[in-house]
Amino acid sequence: MKSSCRWQRSRFPLPLFAAVLGLATMPMLAAPLDARGSATEIVFASGPDDIGIVQRLVDAFNESNRGAIHVTWRQMDRESDAHRRQLVQELSSGAGGIHLFASDVIWTAEFAKNRWVEDLTRRFYKTLDREAFLAPALESATYRLRIWGVPWHTDTGLLFYRKDMLAKSGFTAPPTTWEELSRMARKVMQDSGTRHGFVFQGAEYEGGAANAAEFIWSAGGELMTSRLTVTGAVLPGVTETDSVLVGSDAAARGLDIARKLVVDKASPAAVSSFREREALQAFLAGESVFLRSWPYVYGVLEQAGFTPNQFGVAPLPAASASGRSAGCLGGWNLMINTKSSKSERDAAWKLIRYLTAPAQQKRQARESGLLPVLRALYEDRDLGKQVPVMALGKQVLTSGLHARPISPFYSEISAVVARTFNRTLKGELSGTEAVELLDKELKAIVLRNR
Ligand code: GLC
Repeated sequence: MKSSCRWQRSRFPLPLFAAVLGLATMPMLAAPLDARGSATEIVFASGPDDIGIVQRLVDAFNESNRGAIHVTWRQMDRESDAHRRQLVQELSSGAGGIHLFASDVIWTAEFAKNRWVEDLTRRFYKTLDREAFLAPALESATYRLRIWGVPWHTDTGLLFYRKDMLAKSGFTAPPTTWEELSRMARKVMQDSGTRHGFVFQGAEYEGGAANAAEFIWSAGGELMTSRLTVTGAVLPGVTETDSVLVGSDAAARGLDIARKLVVDKASPAAVSSFREREALQAFLAGESVFLRSWPYVYGVLEQAGFTPNQFGVAPLPAASASGRSAGCLGGWNLMINTKSSKSERDAAWKLIRYLTAPAQQKRQARESGLLPVLRALYEDRDLGKQVPVMALGKQVLTSGLHARPISPFYSEISAVVARTFNRTLKGELSGTEAVELLDKELKAIVLRNR
C-alpha cells in the first residue's frame, strides 16, 4: 500500500473487509446523556458507516455545537430498497423519529410529491451556491424545479479490473467494449485459472435495475423520460409527462449483451443472484477478473491490501468501438423530515451545511473514497492524488448524464426493470421479449399513476 494511503490501518481497528461483507456490524455510538444538556436532539439516518467516517463527522459536529444541538446517528439497511422501505414506513406514518436522512438519488420525486420532506429551495438559495455543486448531483435532488435535498456524495457505475491478471495474459489496458471484455475475461480465466471473468449485480433489486439500465444505455437504448411543461408566467403551473422509450432494438441489444456474457461463461450464471456484496466478495477473494460496482470499492480494495499494480478502474465498456460507455448516476442526498419541529429542522439544516461544506466533503473523500459533490474539490490536486478514483468519477459524471427515470413511482418502475433483467440473465426472455414486456409494463405503470 502507498504511504499516502488515506486509510491507516491503525485508525480502523474493525476489519473493514468483514464489515463490508456484513460479517460485522458497527455498533451505534451515542454521546453520554450528560453531554447533551438541553440541546436540540436530532436523529440522522444513513446506510452502514463501514469505516466510521459518518460517526466521526457527527462527533465533531456535536463537539462544536455542545449544549445547542446533539445528533445521534442511526444505521439504516445496506441495501437501497430495504433502506427505502424503512424510511417510507417512518415518513408515511407521520412519525418524527428520524429528522434528517440520506436519500438515494432515485427517491426525490416520491418523497417530494408526498411532502414527506421539507422543500429546501429557500434555505438552499439563501446560504448555498448552486454553481458550487456538481450539476447531476443537484439535479438528482431537484423535483419540479424545487430543491428537496442537498447532495452529500455522488456515485457512478465503474469497471474494476485485476491489472496483474490482465498483464499475465498480455493485456496492457482494460476493455472498452463488452465483446472485448468477454474475450479478455475468458483468456484470463484460462491462463490464471480464475473462477469467474466478470461479476456484476443481476439480482432482483435496485442494483439490478441500475445494471440493466447501463447495459441498455451502453447499446444506445433508453428506458423512459420525464418532461416538464411550465405554464403561466404569474402563477406557474408545472405538469409532467412520462414517456416510455424502452421498446427499441438498441435496448434489446443491450440486454442480449448481458445474457451473452452468461452464455459465453465470461460471467457466472450466479450473477442473477448477485448483489453488491456477492460481486465484491468474488473480486476481493481473487475469484474474478472484472467487477462492475460503485466508487467506494476503490477504497475497500486499498484497505484490503490491493496495490495499484494489482487493480485498476475504468469506465464501463460500450456496446461497440464507436458506442458510449454509460455509468449510472447514483448517490445520496440529505433531506429533512417535514414532521420535525422548527428547532429540529433548523438543527438538521445546520448539520446539512456542515456535512456538505468543503472541509467535511474533503475529509469524507479522503477517509472513505466516496465521491464529493462540490465541483472545486475535483480541481484540488492533493485530494486528487489521495483519492485517485475522483478523476475517473469526474470524467464519467461529466461525459453525459445517465440517470434512472425521475418519477414519484420510480420504485414500481425499478421492480419491473430488475425483474425483467433478472429473467433475461437466466435465459427466460430474449432481449426483444424483455423490452416488449418492459414497454408494456412500464406503460401500465404510467397509466395507473396518471
Ligand atoms: C449505490 C448508489 C445508489 C443506488 C444503489 C443501488 O448506493 O449510490 O444510487 O441506487 O447503489 O444498489
